[in-house]
Amino acid sequence: MKIKEALKLKNGSYILEKLINKDKAWLFLNDELEVPSEFFKIYEKVKRGYPIEYIFNEVEFYGKKYYVKEGVLIPRDDTEVIVERALKLLDEELKVKSKKFKINEKLNVKNEKLEINNEKLKIVDCCTGSGVIAITIKQYFPDIEVVATDISDKAIEVAKKNAKLHDVDIKFKKCNLFDEKGDILISNPPYVENSYPKPNDYEPDIAFYGGVDGLDIVREIILRAKNLEYKYAIIEIGYNQKENLSKFLEDKVKEYEFFKDLARNIRGVEIKF
Ligand SMILES: C[S@@+](CC[C@H](N)C(=O)[O-])C[C@H]1O[C@@H](n2cnc3c(N)ncnc32)[C@H](O)[C@@H]1O
Repeated sequence: MKIKEALKLKNGSYILEKLINKDKAWLFLNDELEVPSEFFKIYEKVKRGYPIEYIFNEVEFYGKKYYVKEGVLIPRDDTEVIVERALKLLDEELKVKSKKFKINEKLNVKNEKLEINNEKLKIVDCCTGSGVIAITIKQYFPDIEVVATDISDKAIEVAKKNAKLHDVDIKFKKCNLFDEKGDILISNPPYVENSYPKPNDYEPDIAFYGGVDGLDIVREIILRAKNLEYKYAIIEIGYNQKENLSKFLEDKVKEYEFFKDLARNIRGVEIKF
């Protein structure tokens, strides 16, 4: 098959770019060449539902590339709104000193640095998976202390690798949820209802399921954060969980606000304890 035919196939361009190690422009300029034989094996595997991110051990999140492998959840674009919300809280409300990155010109550089009880502001990313949330926040706010936890050995291994790749200093801890104090709790926990089918057979069940209504782990995280005297929590949830979670939050926290993703579906909640 010639490159020009492969370019018309779903994921064809991405597979070729990775295999030949050339960009899209090169592929178009050389589209009369034959594709390498490995192309077909990979293309068929992806067509049968194997995640392409696991084939090339790479995923993009918030404009940066991360390592990922089978057994660890592939970060989703929707989770970027959780990160955005945390960056906004740190920048606009808490006025923490930030580092300006080209990819997001919205953030203003502030010269103030928030210190709580004369100590560094501390964020705990519970259920960190590949570490993308914790690492992105640390890149924007290098002065804050970031701790990331996960119950899975594989996730902690991948997250550590990603922190090294992006040269950020994060404390990783393998544990059930979290047990240390902090100021802001952030999490994309498992929140899928047990009765829902999995998107594929290759990502781990433990990354998805959160009980009958999906909120078992979310509720536990909120109670722990409250008991450990966190000031804020930002948690990803499902589009249909607002009502159940509102009832739970009503008498437990000072304020809470649900926020939406780009498709205008409910995607998370920000809590002030
Ligand atoms: C939905 S994934 C999120 C991963 C990553 N934060 C992201 O957004 O791509 C949930 C993660 O929670 C972890 N997890 C599940 N139960 C846990 C528990 N009881 N304590 C800590 N981590 C847990 C899973 O291993 C998985 O990595």
